[in-house]
Amino acid sequence: MSDPIVTVEHFIAEQERRHPEATGAFTDVLLQLSLAAKLISRSVNKAGLVDILGDAGKENVQGELVQKLDEYANDVLIHVLTRCGSLAGIASEESEEIVPIPAAYEAGPYVIAFDPLDGSSNIDVNISIGTIFSIHRKRSRGRDATLEDLLQPGRDQCAAGYVLYGSSTMLVFTTGAGVHGFTLDPTIGEFLLSHPDMMIPEPGKRIYSVNEGHSTTWTEGQQRLVRHFRGEEGGGTPFSSRYVGSMVADFHRTLQYGGIFMYPGTRDKPEGKLRLLYEVAPLAFICEQAGGASTDGVTRVLDIQPTDVHQRVPVYLGSRSHVELASRYLSED
Ligand code: AHG
Ligand code: MN
Ligand code: MN
Repeated sequence: MSDPIVTVEHFIAEQERRHPEATGAFTDVLLQLSLAAKLISRSVNKAGLVDILGDAGKENVQGELVQKLDEYANDVLIHVLTRCGSLAGIASEESEEIVPIPAAYEAGPYVIAFDPLDGSSNIDVNISIGTIFSIHRKRSRGRDATLEDLLQPGRDQCAAGYVLYGSSTMLVFTTGAGVHGFTLDPTIGEFLLSHPDMMIPEPGKRIYSVNEGHSTTWTEGQQRLVRHFRGEEGGGTPFSSRYVGSMVADFHRTLQYGGIFMYPGTRDKPEGKLRLLYEVAPLAFICEQAGGASTDGVTRVLDIQPTDVHQRVPVYLGSRSHVELASRYLSED
C-alpha cells in the first residue's frame, strides 16, 4: 500500500495530540458528527426506495413509522449530540428555540448550530443534499448555553463543516488549520482522508452560481454583476453558469473548481434567504480557510454580529478575485 489510510478518527486524534491543552471534548463533538453523518447517509441512500419501504407519515412493512428525511436528520443529530457530553446547547434550522442538553446527560464547553438537511427540495429527485454545522466555545458560565453563546460572530468558530450526500458521501471540515475532506467508504463504514489541505483555485474556473430566475427582483449592482459574468458588461468573455439549488453541493463545486456562489438579497427582501448561523457563516469559515473570500455584499461574513439564531443574510462565497469583483459592483448600490 503506497499512501497510508487515515480515518477521520485518526486524523482528529492526531490534531488533538498537537494541542496539549485540548481536553477531548471537542474531539467528541466531531466524532459524534461523523457518526450522525453515517446514519443520515444510510437513510439518504435508501430515500429512492420510498415506494418499497413506505411513505413519510405512514408505517413501513416492519411496522415502523417512516419519517421525512429532514426530520430524521434533525432527530439523529440531536440524539447523538445531546449525549456526547461536550455541548451546552444546540441550534437547529428545524427548532425555533435553542435545544438544551437534558439534565440526564452531561453538558460541556461547546455550542453547535446546524442545518440538518440542506437542499431538501432536492431529496425526492435524487440530487445531492447536505448537512452543515458550526461550533463555538461557550462563553457564559452556567451549565446551559445562553442565546449569546450561540450569537457569536463567525470569526470565532472553533470548527465548521459540512457533509455532502452526493455520488459519494463526504465530510469536509476545518478547525482553523486548513480544510480537509474525507470520503465515506461504505464497505468499511469509515470516512477516509481523501482531500487533505483543500484550497480554492485562484482565480479558478469562471463559474457563477446563482438562482437567476430572481434577476428582475435584484438591485442594480447585482444585475450589473451578473451581466458582467454573462459577458454583457466589462468586456470579458462569459462565465459558465451552474446552480444545483443545494448550497452544500454548489459550495463544494466552488471549493474545488473555484468561481463564485451567490444568494443575493432582493429589493423587497434585502436579507436574502440563507441563514447566517448554520448555512452562511460555517461555509464562509471553510471558504476563507481554503484561501477564498466571503461577503454579504458590504461586510466580511465572518465579522457579522448575529442578532437572531435564524437570521438571514445575503452571501457571496468563492475565489477571492471573483468575490472582490462582486463587492465592487455591489458597492454601487
Ligand atoms: P434548506 O433545504 O435547508 O431549506 O436550504 C435550501 C437552500 C439552499 O440549499 C439553496 O442554496 C437555496 O435554498 C436554494 O434556494 P432557491 O430555490 O431560492 O434558489
Ligand atoms: Mn439549508
Ligand atoms: Mn435544511
